[in-house]
Amino acid sequence: MCGIIGYNGNKNAIPIVIDGLKNLEYRGYDSSGIAYFHNEKIKIIKEKGRISELEKILDDDTPNLCIGHTRWATHGKPSKVNSHPHKSGEITIVHNGIIENYASLKEDLIKEGYTFLSETDTEVAAAMIDYLYSKDNDKLKVLEKLEDILRGSYALLILFRDDPDNIYALRKGSPLIVAKSKTGNLVASDIPAILDYTKDYYLLDENDIAIIGKNDIKFFKDGKEITKNLLTFEFDISSAKKDGYKHYMLKEIYEQPKVIRNYLDHYLNNMDLIPDLSVYEKVHIVACGSAYHAGLIGNYLFEEYGDMEVTCYVASEYRYKKNFINDKTLVILISQSGETADTIASLRLAKEKGAKTLGIVNVVGSTIARESDQVIYINAGCEIAVATTKAYTLQVLTLSLCAYKLGIIKGKIDKNRELELKKSYYNLSKEIEEVLNFDYKKYAKRIAKSKNAFFIGRLIDYYICEEGSLKLKEISYIHSETYPAGELKHGTISLIEENTPVIAVITDKKIAEKTISNIKEVRARGAYTLILKNKDIEISPDIYDDVMEIEELNDLVSSILTIVPLQMLAYHVADSLGYDIDKPRNLAKSVTVE
Ligand code: G6P
Repeated sequence: MCGIIGYNGNKNAIPIVIDGLKNLEYRGYDSSGIAYFHNEKIKIIKEKGRISELEKILDDDTPNLCIGHTRWATHGKPSKVNSHPHKSGEITIVHNGIIENYASLKEDLIKEGYTFLSETDTEVAAAMIDYLYSKDNDKLKVLEKLEDILRGSYALLILFRDDPDNIYALRKGSPLIVAKSKTGNLVASDIPAILDYTKDYYLLDENDIAIIGKNDIKFFKDGKEITKNLLTFEFDISSAKKDGYKHYMLKEIYEQPKVIRNYLDHYLNNMDLIPDLSVYEKVHIVACGSAYHAGLIGNYLFEEYGDMEVTCYVASEYRYKKNFINDKTLVILISQSGETADTIASLRLAKEKGAKTLGIVNVVGSTIARESDQVIYINAGCEIAVATTKAYTLQVLTLSLCAYKLGIIKGKIDKNRELELKKSYYNLSKEIEEVLNFDYKKYAKRIAKSKNAFFIGRLIDYYICEEGSLKLKEISYIHSETYPAGELKHGTISLIEENTPVIAVITDKKIAEKTISNIKEVRARGAYTLILKNKDIEISPDIYDDVMEIEELNDLVSSILTIVPLQMLAYHVADSLGYDIDKPRNLAKSVTVE
């Protein structure tokens, strides 16, 4: 949440910072601002709304050093006064994260004579740095003290009015990278902000401090200068670009065949990289949002192929409930960003209780990746659209490979079946390419007319529906709910009216008949019924309005195919309604608050 960037180099810093902010806009987009040195003072320009609004009020200055921020509001509504940068005395800062004890710090600072313009925790942090600096003129010492004073998570970029040559940066909890390019040095929340200039970057660790000069970058920890390893972004830079697609979401949906192929080439040929779950007594899967929905499928597959006790939890619940875990439990944390606050807290709790932890993560070097005992990188490349697609698919694929390995170890998958399954995994990309060609617009038009929609399915189909429904509601703002197909009649069927869309997923032959009966029930009450089913499940055309058919695949593989038409459907509904698909209202991609 919130994107921050700073540049210090030979070029005009303003367009570099503005472009960087645009590349970070997926982290938050309700207001933005920049700060730079001008006539020995610090000039701040900020505005409510998208970065395009900020661009309208920029001045013609050409500073070589600038910091910027794009906000996802937490403390105080989106407004000009609450947007960053914030200034107090000698200090100007931008911040990503939350200062939990800001209220008590604010009271203390008011007693010291400080006044505040905004409702933000960030302005309090600026004032606290200013206060500490007024007592001790040693910048590094002041920044080190913050670790003991500020509770919560933060990545901060700081300008001291008396030092126009440097940007000061530090992190605790929220991510920050520093990069060296040919024309200057950069500091940012995430990789997409720097990729136009360089692929090489340093990752700041907890409580690291960086001083970013025009020519050199210095790192400090515990009062001592340290050296850090230069890392390289391994993926194709185009993974962070729109490449001619109307939206990032569409581009990322279309990228799925390729990222799946690359993923399988890597992992299916190196199965020792996939952990053996059979050594644990039980498995907990913990995640938020779509990653939780991926976890539900993992839960089902581990039970099926491992005959073991598995439970999938939403991280914001898991961390507060009673959990019976010990050193024989594996806790799997799934997270695209690797920075989701509740998932990180669950990871730390699991470790405290002695459980083993496995992170399934996309962003290399993120907190969950670094703190888990073992990590599997899903290698999706940059995912920019707020609504996840390719990362979700690769999370499911990772869980599927864990179940596949479990099935082989437990003797549930024999040699012949193993080879058959391997083939199915490799066919997956081709099948996805097929379903991308369906004519989604005609179904989307009907669904777009409704205020409500329902998704139904049983077992694995139900878990896929959870994700399909989330995709639809998050980008089209159509209220959408998912039900296990048999449950709809226990109350919710009262909401079915003439033309209410009910989307039914049927890929599991064993229980197809049961879901078919449920479709009849809603159609009899006027619903518009759209079925997504396997080609070889026979359903009489009289019982539904529309159908999408996909190839039959084994349950280890099928969900990865089944989700794609639902992603496309959600996309086309939102597109037909003209919404800003990559930046849905009120959402942010990386949720670093609890
Ligand atoms: C946000 C995103 C979702 C994502 C969830 C968990 O809500 O909008 O797309 O599934 O966070 O994020 P993570 O980075 O932990 O997978």
